[in-house]
Amino acid sequence: MQDIISAENLSKSYGAMKAVNGLRLHIQKGEFFGFLGPNGAGKTTTIRMLTGILKPDHGKITIDNYPLEDKLRIAKLIGVVPESRGFYEWMTAAEYLEFFADLYGIAGKEKEKRIASLLAEVDLAERKNSKIGAYSRGMKQRLGLARALINNPRVLFLDEPTLGLDPQGQEDIRSLLKKLNGNGVTIFFSSHLLNEVSDLCSRIGIINNGKLIAEGTIDELREKTKLKDKTLTAIFLHLTGK
Ligand SMILES: Nc1ncnc2c1ncn2[C@@H]1O[C@H](COP(=O)(O)OP(=O)(O)OP(=O)(O)O)[C@@H](O)[C@H]1O
Ligand SMILES: [Mg+2]
Repeated sequence: MQDIISAENLSKSYGAMKAVNGLRLHIQKGEFFGFLGPNGAGKTTTIRMLTGILKPDHGKITIDNYPLEDKLRIAKLIGVVPESRGFYEWMTAAEYLEFFADLYGIAGKEKEKRIASLLAEVDLAERKNSKIGAYSRGMKQRLGLARALINNPRVLFLDEPTLGLDPQGQEDIRSLLKKLNGNGVTIFFSSHLLNEVSDLCSRIGIINNGKLIAEGTIDELREKTKLKDKTLTAIFLHLTGK
């Protein structure tokens, strides 16, 4: 199998604070990778570097063997649901997706079709002409996912995409992510909801104080921690020393 996300010796400091410290990540095509860690561990900083939003102090990142500096190629390959989402609140959902479709050069019938299918996928078709400012948190969350999918990405990065959603909303996002992964989309997924991580992820990495402290399938992590039959929560708490 081939790496689709690769990062070597990735580091980022804020002043004297090493937020990410010599991280090495190799994610293969088609994986559903869960990226876990306590608050402040460095997950968002890592995701922002992997997606080109934040420049690392050190390290080398490639996506599908293209260096991250190859911005045009990378933009075609990836979709991102960031931790904090800014929306143009005065736009409607339809206008918002159109705006991003235009940025990606998607036009004409193709644009219409894509926007209609994404709005249906995230269950916003009926509210497509409402202003985003009048959306609930869950609706904005779902719109953020639709936006991340506008360019049909092969790699999707999500930083706590189900945060603050009601159980049905969480489930809807999870089943959409499962479907995308089933269609071959590689998923890099950060969440504090360890039940959902257990349910979705084929492999997990745990970061603490900016360093990757464990990596593997849940069974491999059970083996490593000698916590046979235990939940991911028990394994996580054991490894992060809380
Ligand atoms: N813009 C910034 N300026 C200064 N320090 C920052 C900045 N962004 C993050 N940090 C610090 O870097 C460390 C890692 O933060 P990061 O947001 O990556 O953590 P996280 O794992 O995503 O946490 P959470 O689970 O709370 O989202 C923290 O100590 C945080 O305070
Ligand atoms: Mg974060």
